[in-house]
Formats: sequence, C-alpha cells, structure tokens
Amino acid sequence: MPDAMHDRLKALSETARTEIAAAQTAQQLEALKGRFLGKKGELSAVLGSMGKLPPEERKAIGEVANTVKGELEALLEQAQKRLEDAALDEELKGPKLDVTLPGRAVAFGRRHPVSQTLEDIVRVFSRLGFEVYSGPEIELDWYNFEALNVPADHPARDMQDTFYVDAHWLPKGVGPVVLRTHTSPVQIRTMLAHKPPVRGVMPGRVYRKDSDQTHTPMFHQVEGLLVDETVTFAELKGTLAAFARAFFGASTKTRFRPSFFPFTEPSAEVDVSCVFCGGKGCRVCKHTGWLEVLGSGMVHPNVFKHAGYDASKVTGFAFGMGVERLAMLRYGIDDLRTMFENDARFLAQF
Ligand code: PHE
Repeated sequence: MPDAMHDRLKALSETARTEIAAAQTAQQLEALKGRFLGKKGELSAVLGSMGKLPPEERKAIGEVANTVKGELEALLEQAQKRLEDAALDEELKGPKLDVTLPGRAVAFGRRHPVSQTLEDIVRVFSRLGFEVYSGPEIELDWYNFEALNVPADHPARDMQDTFYVDAHWLPKGVGPVVLRTHTSPVQIRTMLAHKPPVRGVMPGRVYRKDSDQTHTPMFHQVEGLLVDETVTFAELKGTLAAFARAFFGASTKTRFRPSFFPFTEPSAEVDVSCVFCGGKGCRVCKHTGWLEVLGSGMVHPNVFKHAGYDASKVTGFAFGMGVERLAMLRYGIDDLRTMFENDARFLAQF
C-alpha cells in the first residue's frame, strides 16, 4: 500500500514536470498549478487517500508528498520566470522585419486623360505662337451669348441648353448669369483686355444641360482666336490642318464643311481623316472616313464691335474644340461618362 502511494506520487511528479516544462503561456501554467497543487488537485487527492494508512507510514508519505509539493512549486516559479524572460527577449528584438524582402513598388499618380489631352492641344498651339488666356466658368449672359452675336430670342441659343445661376443680388440689368456653355466668351474678354493683334488659345470647363453616352453636363473646350490686320480663311485652314497633323499624326487630312455659328461668318465644321481606319471607312467614322472634330470660322464683325475692335481695320479667325471628344477619338473610348467615374482601373490605362 505505501509502495502504491509512492508510485502514485512519483507518477504525479513526473507528469507535472513534463507538462510544466512544456507550458508556453502564463494561462497554461496557472491551469497546471490548479490541476496539481490546487485544493481539489491531484496532490490533494493522493493525500486524501492517506487516511487509511497506519500513522508512521502516513508520516513517511506525508514527507514525500511535501517534497513533491515543494519541487513542483519551485518548477512552476521557474517556468513563470522562463516565460517572462522569453516575452521580454521577444519584445527587445523589435518587430519581425525581413530586410531582404524586395521593396514595395510605389504606384505613381498620373494626369487624367482629359488633362493630358488638353495639355497636348495647348502645347501644339503654343508651338504655333498662341498664348494661353482664361475666363470665368460662371459667366454673364452678355459674354456667353449677346456679345457673341446671339441675341436673347435667337434660335441658336437652343443649340446650347444652359444652366442659369440665381444671381438676384446683382444690380438690375447686369444679369442673367449662366454657367458658360462654351469657351467663346473668353474671346470677348481677351479682346476687351488686349489691343490687336491677338493670338491665343483659351482652355477650360464648360457646361450644358446634356447627358448621354457622348455628352456630360460638364466638359472641356479649347477656344482659339487670332486677330490681326489681314487674317484670311486660308490661315485658318493652314493653322487647323497643322494642328490636326501634330495632334493626330502626320498623315492626317482635314476637310472643311460649311456650317453656321452666330459669332463667325463664314463658319466651317472641321473633319479629320479617321484616325482608326485612315479614311477607308470603319465603325467609328460610320463608314464615312471622316471624324468631325471642331467648329470654326472668321470672326463676325458684330463680335469685333462688342469687343471694342474696329471691324473695318481687323479680321480674324476663331475655333473651338471639345477636349473629351478628342480624347475619346485618340484613345478609342466609346463612352464619355467613363472619363468622370474616377475608376482607377480605367484611368490607369492612359
Ligand atoms: N463655341 C462653339 C461651340 O461651342 C465652337 C466655335 C468656336 C465655333 C469658335 C466657331 C468659332 O460649339
């Protein structure tokens, strides 16, 4: 019987030793302490069964049990110290860092395709000697329409469905105020501010009450204006043909079709040979071989009058092009609205 108790204590001590040595966390240690040394623990259980032993044997076993208890307490304490030291070591090592890993690539930002196109257009005209002018996006009706020879009741206003701005606080007779429907009002502002000759491009945002696959309520235009003493239509053609070759490629042809704008006379719509099929005819050019890219013409005398220029002394040409339209043609984009959805996967392609 005492031998059996001895064996039990020995076995208990051995299991406790291996388990304490294997413990990885403070919680595991705490659990082991309870399991072996707790009030309802395994050591208590052994001692509890001692009651049946004769007193002298009880004493001997009691001593052994006490030794085991002391040993286990010491082991538990050592183990706790071991875990604390390990945690401290880990902390002192700092964050896990593999300095041999390759670095993370930096994703570069890029300009929006509309900005790229706008800057490219302006760059071509800069090389031709044009300066850059700008005007406000919130514009007086007078600059946007009246001064450009589009009177209030003129049907040409229907061509440009307009956003009106509530400007009741303006002095009577100054308004109405609109979001400019084109960059042409900057022609007037530029001429009012500068004596002839004038040679400028005027890029910027414009607004129309339109929204479909090829129209958004906000878009960009680049206006052009050249005024001097003897400017002819031939110079308009030469300038725009040079632009088309520089922008779309050296083999690009241009075609001028009669058109109408209230602020130019004569007026012409300008087509370029299709950039996709080279003029043979394809889906994009609707099998005509030509793409319409801009409006143009010789500045109307009434426009000069409103801008304070003497229409008997100067002549000039003007043109206006849609930046998004040119970007779509150049990159083969078929839905204008994708330009303004800010989907990085779309924008990263340009
Ligand atoms: N302003 C015209 C438009 O928006 C384009 C244009 C500009 C036409 C200058 C002729 C001269 O459609």
